[in-house]
Order: sequence, then C-alpha cells, then structure tokens
Amino acid sequence: MKISEITPFIGAEFTGFTYEDLQQQDVFDQLTDRLARHQLVVVRGLELTPEQQIALAKRLGRPVPFVIGKYRHPVHPEIMISSNEVRDDKPVGVARVGNFWHQDSTFVADPAPYTMLHGVNVPSTSGHTLYASALDIYDRLPQEWKDKLAGRTGVHTVAKRLRIRSEHVGLSVAEFRALIDIEHPKVRHPMVQTDEGTGRPYLYGSREYMDSVEGFDHNENEEFFSLVDGLLADEDHVHTHRWTPHDLVIWKTRTTFHQATEVEPGVPRTVHRISIEADA
Ligand SMILES: [Fe+2]
Repeated sequence: MKISEITPFIGAEFTGFTYEDLQQQDVFDQLTDRLARHQLVVVRGLELTPEQQIALAKRLGRPVPFVIGKYRHPVHPEIMISSNEVRDDKPVGVARVGNFWHQDSTFVADPAPYTMLHGVNVPSTSGHTLYASALDIYDRLPQEWKDKLAGRTGVHTVAKRLRIRSEHVGLSVAEFRALIDIEHPKVRHPMVQTDEGTGRPYLYGSREYMDSVEGFDHNENEEFFSLVDGLLADEDHVHTHRWTPHDLVIWKTRTTFHQATEVEPGVPRTVHRISIEADA
C-alpha cells in the first residue's frame, strides 16, 4: 500500500488499497486529510459495488440524488450514470458532460462540496479527465489582477451551457433567455475565497459558468476570462488522469477545476458519479 503526491499543485494517489483497507479509520483519515490538503484523491483500481461506493460517500457527507431522474442508477438514486453505452436501444446514462473547464455547480447557491467518480468500465486510451487547482490558478494571477479581484463578486449562471430542448422550439431568443433566468436564476459568490484545508486563497469561477464579475465592464470581463483560460491551458499546471479499471476519484468541487475529454468513437465508457453534500 502506497500514498504519493501526484503533482506539486494537485492530487494524492492511493495504490494497493482495498475496500476493506478503507474501512479502517486510520486509513480513511489519511484519505480525508489528503483530500483536504491536495484537493483531489485517486484510489487506483478499487473494486466496489454500488452499495460500497455509496457507503464511502456517506463517510464524507450526504450523497444527493441527481436532478434528472432518468440518469439515476435504477436501484441507487444517489448514483448518476455517466455513460455512452446503449442497452435495449436506450442510453444507459448521460453521455459526455463537462468537456470544458469548470468547478462543479458554481451556478447554484450552495454547491455540494465533493464529487466522487468510480470507473466502472473505462478505456485508458481516451476519456481522460483533466484537473487544475484553483489555489494554483490564484497564485499565478498577476498581482494587478489579484488586486482587481479582491473583494469582488462573481455572477454565475448555467445559461452558456444549457441545451435547447424540444419544448423550447418556437421561442424567440429573448423569450428563451427570459425562461432561463426564471428556471436557473443567476447566483453570486465571492471571486476569491479561502480553502479550509490549506488556509490558501483560491479563484472561484471561470468563463463557462460565469456571466460576469460584478462591476467589470465588457472588456474587463473578457480580459479576465481570457486570462483564466490561459492559466488553465498551461500544461505544466494541468494533471491528466488516465483512467485504469475501477479507479475511485474524489475531489473538492470548490478548489478543483476539471474538464472531461473526448472518448474515441465506438469505445464504451461508464462511470458512476456521486455528488456529496456536507452533513447538515
Ligand atoms: Fe464537473
């Protein structure tokens, strides 16, 4: 059994652990400690039943059922199935989502603090997941931008990523926008926050889930989004998780930017996802 740092900026990896090992309090304490300090934890090749994955999630908080009922696991509503597989002419789960840099669910008032994925059937040649640290992104902002962002509020929205559904046919663009504002009201979060696990500041927000930084004009907003895009594109500060069978991956949603990558055509891929809220 081995625990190692993945990169200096994000991630800790556990290798050679079984579900039984993780049942031991001292081992699980190491996992939560690493998660607090490194934002992302990978447990390599951990064979788990759905019940066991849920049991692990419950030790971190409260698993919450996915919003869209048809993509929930048929027996365990806490599990959302992310899959490109088709059975009996029906998709098994949600096909690829999140193929752009984001922090999870920043467009809601109180995002669940952890996301947990289990690689049920994963290719190693594609469908990698990219990670970057929001602490590291903040550190690399030029000082003038740290000063500009200090005390600012970000306006977050899911509007840029919403897909037009059949019930929207016939709406004008203005009507569609008005409907989005009603169904998914914009929310506000501080742009710079402090990570409890490390005491370090981090950047909260980026282009795809943000409307604007309050008080910035159009040009300043575009400059800000481009700056963050550039920092996220720096390969020396991005960790690529190449999946191996049954990997368990857990991250802190607030401090972890991530992005899904494409799966090669014809290659099946299924991941079980649990979103974990803080215990009340
Ligand atoms: Fe995500």
